[in-house]
Amino acid sequence: MQAFQLIPRRTIILAISAVTILVVVFKFYGDVPMDYYRNYGPAEFLAPVEIDNTTPQPGYFKFQPEWNFDVPPQAKGWKGYAKTPRNRDVVVLTASDGGGHNSAIPNVLGRVLEDRQQYCDKHGYTNLWLNTSRYDIGEAHRTWSKIPAVAEAFHLHPNAEWVWLIDTDIIIMSPDYDLANQILSPAAIQQGLMRGTPILDGQLKKNPTNIFTPKKFRVEDIDVLITQDHQSVNTGSTFFRRTAFTRWLLEMMTDYTMLMGKDHVGAEQDAIKHLMLEHPLVRNHVGIYPQRKFNAYVQGGDNMGYRDGDLLVHFAGCWVANKCGGWFEEFWDKRGHADAWRPEGSQ
Ligand SMILES: *[C@@H]1O[C@H](CO)[C@@H](O)[C@H](O)[C@H]1NC(C)=O
Repeated sequence: MQAFQLIPRRTIILAISAVTILVVVFKFYGDVPMDYYRNYGPAEFLAPVEIDNTTPQPGYFKFQPEWNFDVPPQAKGWKGYAKTPRNRDVVVLTASDGGGHNSAIPNVLGRVLEDRQQYCDKHGYTNLWLNTSRYDIGEAHRTWSKIPAVAEAFHLHPNAEWVWLIDTDIIIMSPDYDLANQILSPAAIQQGLMRGTPILDGQLKKNPTNIFTPKKFRVEDIDVLITQDHQSVNTGSTFFRRTAFTRWLLEMMTDYTMLMGKDHVGAEQDAIKHLMLEHPLVRNHVGIYPQRKFNAYVQGGDNMGYRDGDLLVHFAGCWVANKCGGWFEEFWDKRGHADAWRPEGSQ
């Protein structure tokens, strides 16, 4: 008699079934987005967001409820904050009153907002404009009011994981660009951030700070993503993650006694630069991407200036040469074009 004939038939059938189930489970395990379901609870906030973009806020900006926006007590999921956000949890924030030097460009705010709406619709991001004239920021320069807008964006969209603050003088040139995977995902952050790069305070040659971005970092600690031009970090295009650190950073940046109430030419940009230069803690949480990743300027060399295929073009500093209008129209017509193209006069 052969050995298997001694085993009861039921046991054989059970064994084969068990093996089959295991094979099926292992085969399809990778197809089930476990992280997706593990990290996001079903208790979603569903009430429509109500934005009053016309009435001035009642009282000083720091007394507004938005400064108390919720942050998770700790990171959800076993990888902590290191996870790719869902597209709808990315808010594209235009914080502006439509004035300033941008008024050289006809109806600039309306046009970029409509364009950003299309970009958001295409990917499922949330488009948001906040009128920064509503904030009472005391005697400080109006540019500071971008910071209360970031807080308000988190407050208005309780599910937002990332807020992308972009200036009005920016045109999205590559509407197919996927923010979640190419900028915000753990892999993108891991590979993309600049390690051991000098943090600038004016031109490096003239003023070597001898302060560098960390060589080692943990993706889950990176709460702010920013870029640096040839002189300084630039807040024209900055990503903020909803974390306790981000809340703390926004509070510190707008500290009236030490920063906001003082004479800083670069306003909120000087504030974050200063905090990065002075505090290793801040350097560990603010990641610097190569500039053209999400803040290419209309003019500049290969590290700085827009090249075909870049996500966006930023008309930083164009009012100095009074060229905003002309350059804006040129790029406006070319946005979304995949063919090779570069405006006349750029390098
Ligand atoms: C922005 O807010 C200010 C102050 O509340 C208001 O006067 C202005 O009309 C608003 N601008 C727009 C375009 O709604």
